[in-house]
Amino acid sequence: MLQKIYETAEYLKKVIPSQPRTGIILGTGLGNLVSQITDKTEIPYDTIPNFPISTVEGHSGKLIAGKLGGVDILAMQGRFHYYEGYDMKTVTFPVRVMKAIGIENLLVSNASGGMNPTFEIGDLMLITDHINCFPEHPLRGKNYDELGTRFPDMSEAYNKEFLDKARKIAKEHNIKVVEGVYVGTSGPTFETPAEYRRFGLMGGDAVGMSTVPEVIVAVHSKMKVFGISIVTDLGVFGKIVEVTHEEVQQIGNSVQPKMTLIMSELVKQI
Ligand code: HPA
Repeated sequence: MLQKIYETAEYLKKVIPSQPRTGIILGTGLGNLVSQITDKTEIPYDTIPNFPISTVEGHSGKLIAGKLGGVDILAMQGRFHYYEGYDMKTVTFPVRVMKAIGIENLLVSNASGGMNPTFEIGDLMLITDHINCFPEHPLRGKNYDELGTRFPDMSEAYNKEFLDKARKIAKEHNIKVVEGVYVGTSGPTFETPAEYRRFGLMGGDAVGMSTVPEVIVAVHSKMKVFGISIVTDLGVFGKIVEVTHEEVQQIGNSVQPKMTLIMSELVKQI
């Protein structure tokens, strides 16, 4: 695994003209932020040694190096989901590579179903914490001390300073944000009403099929993390309706500009 990470990192260092300190992972249908990136170098996943290829609809699958709000960043348009059949080492491989090329901050986005009864469809949720409900742990197996410690502390997985900055940015720009705990689960089924209830009772505010593995690996790698979730449907008793991938993408699309603004202001401040 180490050799693969370093090999891919070496390749990317040659292809990327800058030295970004911030990486961004864009979730389902959330590639709109890409339109704000200038000085772009696009690197399709299928040209990167050892990189998996994204299969899900709505993910085009490329790395984009460039500037967001004038700051050098490296964005992943399209991530690798556990439900696609990848194991957790593969799902989190890009985060390992980001760290190996010198990235210190990781910004992640996703779409989710809200369990918190005060949430509304289209809300932006700042992720304050998470609950890992995936059946496989990304750090299971041999620990490479070069990558991080065997038993990583998770008391502040989502950086408090980043959260404070995001709150201020949202306020300054009159963007409504909510906050909460993201539950990561394997999917690909959306939840049954009973499952939404279970995740809510467990302490979750929203549930989705990604992010948690990448954040665990980022924390293992001592990266600072910020996460934001677009609530695209509600798993709230009395408000549960049928949900489709297309609807998730549609809602995601309409809320994206606000998310992009928070992200692009945040990269300038970190
Ligand atoms: N559940 C799981 N993942 C999701 C949901 C949901 O309700 N909405 C968007 N992604």
